[in-house]
Amino acid sequence: MSHTQLHTEFNSSLKTRDSAIFDSIQREHRRQEQGLELIASENYVSRAVLEAQGSVLTNKYAEGYPSKRYYGGCEFVDQVEALAIERVCKLFGAQAANVQAHSGSQANMAAYLALMAPGEKLMGMSLSHGGHLTHGSPANFSGKMFQVASYGLHPETHRLDYDSIRDQVKKEKPKVLVAGASAYPRIIDFEVMGQIAREENIHFVVDMAHIAGLVAAGLHPSPIAHATFTTSTTHKTLRGPRGGLILCTQDRLKLINSQIFPGIQGGPLMHVIAAKAVAFGEALTPAFVEYQKNILKNCKALAEELMNQGFKLVTDGTDNHLVLVDLASTGDGSITGKEAEAWLDQAGITVNKNTVPNEKRSPFITSGIRIGVPAVTTRGMGPSEMKQIAKWIYQGIQTRGDTQKLGQIHSAVQELCGKFPLYL
Ligand SMILES: Cc1ncc(COP(=O)(O)O)c(C=O)c1O
Repeated sequence: MSHTQLHTEFNSSLKTRDSAIFDSIQREHRRQEQGLELIASENYVSRAVLEAQGSVLTNKYAEGYPSKRYYGGCEFVDQVEALAIERVCKLFGAQAANVQAHSGSQANMAAYLALMAPGEKLMGMSLSHGGHLTHGSPANFSGKMFQVASYGLHPETHRLDYDSIRDQVKKEKPKVLVAGASAYPRIIDFEVMGQIAREENIHFVVDMAHIAGLVAAGLHPSPIAHATFTTSTTHKTLRGPRGGLILCTQDRLKLINSQIFPGIQGGPLMHVIAAKAVAFGEALTPAFVEYQKNILKNCKALAEELMNQGFKLVTDGTDNHLVLVDLASTGDGSITGKEAEAWLDQAGITVNKNTVPNEKRSPFITSGIRIGVPAVTTRGMGPSEMKQIAKWIYQGIQTRGDTQKLGQIHSAVQELCGKFPLYL
């Protein structure tokens, strides 16, 4: 029996053994197929990635690292993990990698714990300016375990202000400076931030989760040469399974490996590591570079048309895969991110509410929406579709919740999605 046959049989077995879960998966598949997925941190993995993640590797315990395991029977999972490491190092030009981090959050936790003790100081981008929870939010382990100093954006340009970051680092004297963001539409100058960290003799961690695909394709400056540890998720622009990774120089590998296991994790998810290896292999192909170029083209086309329609974008544009719409500075400013997200949902357009610089509303309401193009670009949509989507976003928000008008947009969205099928 071939592996594909086995896979299909598992699917049909799910249908008969657990129809509740099977049906929910089918419904979610339909939602993904029939709607416009514009969450900047999401993507559609290939069938090959799905197949590796749904494989028998989920059955295997493999605490430890290749050739140094605490369990027998690891000869084949060793091959898988070694390949994942080899491929990701080649992809990013790194000397060494840990591919066991279960998520981006755990990759960050391991990097921090490798470089400082609880109670020492971390400095990252503030959540309300576009940073991630794990960069020091009081609600997160990073803000509970460490002292935190946060930097924000320039009050007028809404871009990172490296002179002010340098001044703040000098004053705050953190042990670790973190760069990286979840909602920043511009290039981050890792070289300058690395320089600031070196001047103060502190460590520099880069979390490139959002832009890893662009970095891999050479379309965003790489942090590898500047950071003590570079962390990432594997499932955003990189288009792999949900998970994390950490890159570093060979001399720091032992330290970071021990922070992941036995530090904060137990056994690795070998099925996920296999899926990561497949995704890294895909990312090493010329087609992946084309894909990343298309992300940039699409995002520029989307940004232009959104501005033509009358939206104000944070920084008036984008250098990467996402835009931030500033609803507070659009029209009379009365529409909130929460409303826009809910109305667009009814039109089959999935975005997320997001704070904007100088936010006046709570994080549950917000004055902005974040829109990303990696998933629709994976479907094969191009600049002309982006312009159409921008128009629908504008019209959808202008309906102010009119269900009939949103229904009309929804039908048009479904028709467009029908032309760009997933998983043929
Ligand atoms: C910049 C950044 N780092 C880390 C993470 C956390 O990743 P995970 O959800 O895999 O824990 C995210 C997730 O959105 C992110 O945007």
